[in-house]
Amino acid sequence: MPETLEPEIVEIVEIVDPAFRADVLNGLAEPIPAISARWLYDRRGSELFDAITRLPSYYPTRTETALLKRVLPEIAALVPAGGAVVEFGAGSQTKTPLLLRAIHPKAYVPIDISGDYLEESAAEVDADHERVEVHPVVADFTAEMVLPDAVAHLPKLGFFPGSTIGNFVPQSATDLLRHFRTTLGTGAKLLIGMDRIKPAGRLIAAYDDPEGVTAEFNLNLLHRINRELSGTIPVDGFAHDARWNDALSRIEMHLVATRNVEFTVDGYHFAFAKGSSIHTENSHKYGPRGSWLLLLAGGWTPLAEWRAPDDDFVLILAEAQPRRFAP
Ligand code: AVJ
Repeated sequence: MPETLEPEIVEIVEIVDPAFRADVLNGLAEPIPAISARWLYDRRGSELFDAITRLPSYYPTRTETALLKRVLPEIAALVPAGGAVVEFGAGSQTKTPLLLRAIHPKAYVPIDISGDYLEESAAEVDADHERVEVHPVVADFTAEMVLPDAVAHLPKLGFFPGSTIGNFVPQSATDLLRHFRTTLGTGAKLLIGMDRIKPAGRLIAAYDDPEGVTAEFNLNLLHRINRELSGTIPVDGFAHDARWNDALSRIEMHLVATRNVEFTVDGYHFAFAKGSSIHTENSHKYGPRGSWLLLLAGGWTPLAEWRAPDDDFVLILAEAQPRRFAP
């Protein structure tokens, strides 16, 4: 066999993810077709998201980073040094080092389903902070888990920046927060970033940039399906759509069929009429009371809150207090 064929074969074996396949086949067959937003982040999707965070109209990342920089001394005064920072998701290249440098933890535990991203971010932190032990955990952070023994007895600070909580519908968001609580334990703290409700025009501009990067990010999901699940989706038959759903307080990303399209995925046949859509992401936005109520419902008592200028974005420090029963 010619040697050049080998890498291709290896790649095919690696990239078929049964969970992705199941999600796509089930999701496309739903009465309201939808595919979980987690599948937007393959290698290319992550690169595109990175480009999104630098777009003029995408305010969340730069707003949160500036806010974090400004209030870190206050945060550091409220969390013990020498503890463990547990980040849900592979670390952000700018926010995580800022946090670690400000609060001097003994250990840093990034948790991510993708071992690749985890190794990269763990290696960066390692190189940067010689005195922080790094204990990466390859796991789905939406489930409860047991943390490495090395951090079992350290005070814990969960870190969940980026308004990632907004990707979860409220019922899943409270489940997630409760899992964080179980994983981190009573007495732990959580630093979480949430995006605020604001006029629909600004929100839509953030998710439908004139440069077309978010459109490419959304459409990449179809390319990924074609690539990894032997799909025949005519990608040019779909268009990116960002909608503000006011009743549910969220931006929705959809892929809308621009004509009648038919295709197969892994041999299964699907038809989409012109104008029908595949729902690919929710990004919930919270007002002041909503953000606190969500945390409280998930078992976290807010201790302090820091707001970006114009209340565009918020960082909340909360604590897993022992459970008190009514009243
Ligand atoms: C990474 C989930 C926080 O919802 O703002 C950005 C993802 N989608 N543009 C967000 C996203 C389209 C982003 N989160």
